[in-house]
Amino acid sequence: MKEKLELIKKDFADALNNVKLKEELEELRVSFLGKKGKITQVMKGMRDLAPEMRKEVGQVINLIKDQINKNIRDKSIELEKKAVEKKISNEWSDITWPVESAKGTIHPVSIIRMELEKLFISMGFEILDGPEMEDEYHNFTALNIPEDHPARDTQDTFWLKNGKLLRTHTSPIEIRGMEKRKPPFKFVAPGKTFRNESLDTSHEHTFHQIEGMVVDRGISVANLIFTLKSIVSSIFGKEVEIRLRPSFFPFVEPGFELDFRCQICGGKGCSVCKRTGWVEYLGCGMTHPNVLREGGIDPDEFQGFAFGGGIERLVMMKYGIDDIRHFHGGDIRFLKQF
Ligand code: DAH
Repeated sequence: MKEKLELIKKDFADALNNVKLKEELEELRVSFLGKKGKITQVMKGMRDLAPEMRKEVGQVINLIKDQINKNIRDKSIELEKKAVEKKISNEWSDITWPVESAKGTIHPVSIIRMELEKLFISMGFEILDGPEMEDEYHNFTALNIPEDHPARDTQDTFWLKNGKLLRTHTSPIEIRGMEKRKPPFKFVAPGKTFRNESLDTSHEHTFHQIEGMVVDRGISVANLIFTLKSIVSSIFGKEVEIRLRPSFFPFVEPGFELDFRCQICGGKGCSVCKRTGWVEYLGCGMTHPNVLREGGIDPDEFQGFAFGGGIERLVMMKYGIDDIRHFHGGDIRFLKQF
């Protein structure tokens, strides 16, 4: 019987060595200590032993059972530890490693702004910048916008506590541009503009415009039409029909609104062009003599034309984006498409 027990001890030690998983450990325990386990079988044979032997063998069996239980507990702890180590070595991350997957993309408004800048540079224009926090003089007064003009109202303009405002258009850069140059010159100025608007699919409080100004001797509406037609055609990469409608802006005289043929429906009429076949694109006109004078330019010697329009509308048309609020939504899935 003792030999049998020795054999079982050895069997157990071998089997324990081969155990790799926690579930296997439980199986092993049952196969030795369970109801039909090897040790249990031996215990059943004890009733055939002489009483004095029974006691001795009983003690040995108890020792073996204790040993097996202890070995199983130790093995269980060891397996647990190994599992944790494996997890750590497989799932580690180096928080100092550069984050490859979160690389940004160029915002669609920036893409079009850069394309526009390239186009204007190729046509000999300078690219100017101006402050987003403007004063009343550059944003309104110097542009011939009277005191009682509705644009000066708090409803449309973000006024700041320091008496300044967030520019409502890029036109103040016309004044800043003239202040620092002598004609002839031509420049464009793209940038952020701000209006206190209620938001919907086509209105944002923060949007972008591009302003343009050309000042020289003998400038007429014909120069304006030629320049703007070239620009619109370059943007769409083909000849695009444009038209001017008379309009009023205090800083130009005459003033116009420029429309181009809807590039979505080709002029047949669709929801984007509100069934008219034309898309309103920008304001333009011959610079008002008062504005030239504010810029230190003699209107009897020099004439100029200017234009200004939103960039978002162009981006929306080019990429088929139907809601202006996507631009500031910050949704990476939207931004990754460009
Ligand atoms: N600043 C005008 C606006 O925000 C757009 C504009 C109209 C700009 C006529 C011009 C212009 O340069 O000549 O609505």
